Amino acid sequence: MKKILVINPKGGCGKTTIATNLASYYALWGVPTGLVDFDAQRSSTEWLAARPAANESIHAMAGGDNLRYPNSLRRVVMDAPARTTAVRNRRLLRAADVALIPVLPSAIDIRAASLFLGETLMSGAARGTRIGLIANRVRENTLIYGRLREFLRNIGIPFVTTLRDTQNYVRAAQLGIGIFEMAPSQVEADLEQWRPLINWVEGKRRR
Ligand SMILES: Nc1ncnc2c1ncn2[C@@H]1O[C@H](COP(=O)(O)OP(=O)(O)OP(=O)(O)O)[C@@H](O)[C@H]1O
Ligand SMILES: [Mg+2]
Repeated sequence: MKKILVINPKGGCGKTTIATNLASYYALWGVPTGLVDFDAQRSSTEWLAARPAANESIHAMAGGDNLRYPNSLRRVVMDAPARTTAVRNRRLLRAADVALIPVLPSAIDIRAASLFLGETLMSGAARGTRIGLIANRVRENTLIYGRLREFLRNIGIPFVTTLRDTQNYVRAAQLGIGIFEMAPSQVEADLEQWRPLINWVEGKRRR
């Protein structure tokens, strides 16, 4: 069982979007998948509740301490909350095999991510966890994306992929599905951006 955590205490950076899309990717490929919602806002739980019965099922779990995951699950995706304590974050990081950290192209988000990463690395909580960074909601050719890219490239943690700003994620969230379950012609550019992310999570080398 591989546990993949999506974490960044900065609100609204895309944790639930990435967690739900990743869970639906695995489910679509027939991998028994769990989605653990650690957020009191219950966004990923609501996403699952909206999921059409015809789509591959995902095992829903509410986050908490000392969780027991069914042995049948091959992938567990953990959706972390915003505005939580450092102790909680460290506990989540220790429990995960892989942690994905989305960062938005904004000066405030870059500063917040820098603090979180500093704290995380200093604490040693992520010593056994593979950490990867994701630039999320990006509009190409903007100055602030240039700044974010520079920040992510220079921090010494793998910069896994860039996800563009698109209504596809908003629509998918509403329908309880992932972009992998939408018409391929509509999400072609997004699938391209997810490929390095999936490969990295699965430990496949980049071409
Ligand atoms: N790449 C994207 N393109 C367009 N919209 C996006 C993208 N990523 C996230 N969003 C939208 O941004 C909003 C915040 O995203 P999301 O809920 O995934 O963030 P979060 O980090 O889970 O927030 P919270 O900290 O409140 O849990 C949502 O409305 C979501 O649909
Ligand atoms: Mg969320």
